[in-house]
Amino acid sequence: MLEISNLYKSFNTGTINEVNALQDVSLSVGDGSFVCVLGTNGSGKSTLLNAIAGTFISDAGTIILNGRNITRLPEHKRACQIGRVFQNPFSGTAPGMSISENLALAAKRGKKRGLGWGLPVSVVRDLKSRVKALNMGLEERMNTQIGKLSGGQRQALTLLMASWLKPDLLLLDEHTAALDPTTAGKVIEMTKQIVTDYKLTTLMVTHSMQQAVNLGNRIIMMHQGKIKYDFSGEEKNKMKVPDLLSLFDELRRKDQIDAGEALLLSAKHV
Ligand SMILES: Nc1ncnc2c1ncn2[C@@H]1O[C@H](COP(=O)(O)OP(=O)(O)O)[C@@H](O)[C@H]1O
Ligand SMILES: [Mg+2]
Repeated sequence: MLEISNLYKSFNTGTINEVNALQDVSLSVGDGSFVCVLGTNGSGKSTLLNAIAGTFISDAGTIILNGRNITRLPEHKRACQIGRVFQNPFSGTAPGMSISENLALAAKRGKKRGLGWGLPVSVVRDLKSRVKALNMGLEERMNTQIGKLSGGQRQALTLLMASWLKPDLLLLDEHTAALDPTTAGKVIEMTKQIVTDYKLTTLMVTHSMQQAVNLGNRIIMMHQGKIKYDFSGEEKNKMKVPDLLSLFDELRRKDQIDAGEALLLSAKHV
């Protein structure tokens, strides 16, 4: 279970460029829940995932994952509990290393270093069968450098690595956004399968309303560093793409009104 309470994060604090990226965000996610995170550009979706993963320490608030208070822990100390896949296929793997070597690293994530490269034979066999299950022919290319693979193949492997140790939490940040539609579809299908098979608690940021409708059991929508909508259960199941689009429009319209008001207010002082 993930419990986020009153989380705040701002960037460039105290300067003219100050951004309040997270403003009093509270979110509770039950075990095995699959949450799709939607929101306008710059609404704080990636910041929320980064805050949980420990890319930085939040300004205020608490993050508790499976009973462990991780709020102030450095990123590497959270890694054993959290798997993540980013938008960019170039992050998350070591491009100069082979598929086997990358998987070996993933299998040891969060464990003490100095164990060498050797993995038990059973683990190697299991890894290979999972790679085979990706249906990309990669099991024949275990010694190929990851950097030589296509974006889709890399994302599929990164997903495998991120979920391999059945983390307490899986964080996906627009992990199919950089892929062509066919490949994106395959990686989404794979995501669905892995999350369901392993019953992983998952937060998936996506800009695709269709994905949000099709996947998971909950949708949250962020705007200006806050969670504006939160749908689960029947409400989520009934949600259709046009419903989500109109909520988006509403948020954008409010933005325009705010911007218009600000302009008028500043004009008064001219
Ligand atoms: N490392 C950073 N330094 C400065 N500003 C940042 C940083 N990361 C995010 N921001 C700002 O915080 C806001 C939220 O960003 P982000 O969480 O990336 O939005 P999105 O919802 O598009 O993922 C944006 O205004 C963004 O410019
Ligand atoms: Mg983002």
